[in-house]
Amino acid sequence: MLRFLTAGESHGPGLIAIVEGLPAGLTVEPDAIDHDLARRQVGYGRGGRMAIERDHAEILSGVIGHRTTGAPVTLRIENRDWTNWREHWLNDDLPSLTVPRPGHADYAGMVKYGLDDARPVLERASARETAARVAVGALARRLLAEHAIAVGSYVVEIGSAIAEVPELPLHELWRRAESSDVRCPDMSAADRMRSTIDSARQAGDSLGGVFVIGATGLPVGLGSHVQWDRRIDARLAGAVMSIQAIKGMEIGPAFENARLPGTQVHDAFRFDGEGRIVRPTNRAGGVEGGMTNGEPILIRAAMKPIPTTVTPQHSVDLAQRRPATTQYQRSDVCAVPAAAVVGEAMVAWVLAEALIEKLGGDSLAEMSR
Ligand SMILES: Cc1cc2nc3c(=O)[nH]c(=O)nc-3n(C[C@H](O)[C@H](O)[C@H](O)COP(=O)(O)O)c2cc1C
Repeated sequence: MLRFLTAGESHGPGLIAIVEGLPAGLTVEPDAIDHDLARRQVGYGRGGRMAIERDHAEILSGVIGHRTTGAPVTLRIENRDWTNWREHWLNDDLPSLTVPRPGHADYAGMVKYGLDDARPVLERASARETAARVAVGALARRLLAEHAIAVGSYVVEIGSAIAEVPELPLHELWRRAESSDVRCPDMSAADRMRSTIDSARQAGDSLGGVFVIGATGLPVGLGSHVQWDRRIDARLAGAVMSIQAIKGMEIGPAFENARLPGTQVHDAFRFDGEGRIVRPTNRAGGVEGGMTNGEPILIRAAMKPIPTTVTPQHSVDLAQRRPATTQYQRSDVCAVPAAAVVGEAMVAWVLAEALIEKLGGDSLAEMSR
């Protein structure tokens, strides 16, 4: 059984993740984790925080001499910003927030936990937490790589700027996205995305968008049709939807498929010249019957616009019980490229979990056998 927990606040000393269930013998180079952490930090439209942080995952347990031992792996990522908040934190005089921001966790969190200040809520609801998830995802990605499974992503929409994705192999799209600060493989759309972000910034507003996560090299049969909670589509949906601000996802072109007759949607089976089964199309997005079907997994995820805006939004002051407008907190204008990297981590996690279920084994050697 593979599982993880994260802990830590946005402006506290740091983040922690504990991962249990990784097989022994997996090579873990700290640089590979930091590489993914750096990918999460970049992206046109990020706020001032990312200029402060240089995320590095320190491995505190479960890895000896760059190899997992089978024991829980503890990862710690320091918050560099902590030095700016330390005194407030220790003296319990963090700036309070009593005007909940529409779209953020402030209001529901205050009511749920009986708080008169949203500060503790935002400290944990903040997507700073996703740094820990990306570090965990890097471990999952290592395990997948041992089985020639790769996970990548690209951005297709930011606000009203929509990409026309060229007909290229997934790995080429990922390669192009990697060199784009909006993670978009369509270079002319990337220019429009940057302008849209500039306009939103000037207007004191924020943006969301859509990204595609893909996975290649998958065997047939990760997940199962036999029970609802074993279906890989359900597990992928839960994992992707658990990312802050992700409000929709589809596997393959699901919403477009819903408007078409079955004969135009379902992917035909054929034999190639050597008697192997091939599927000329992949409108199912790599999943049939709650199981991987051997085709690449394709997931589109929708991120809502960032809730915090420079332009004040209508709200109420819960301390003074009067109408109020929101106060700006340092924030991203657009974090879709970063969210795509977090999406990769969550998809890698679910696939690694399903792979361990299928292959079993306490060590990598046993899994490989
Ligand atoms: C990578 C990433 C960065 C984010 N940055 C911000 C931000 O700077 N300001 C903000 O208000 N929300 C930001 N969000 C979104 C909030 O964390 C999210 O909207 C909030 O926690 C409420 O949760 P919900 O949108 O899932 O309902 C970010 C989300 C992600 C995935």
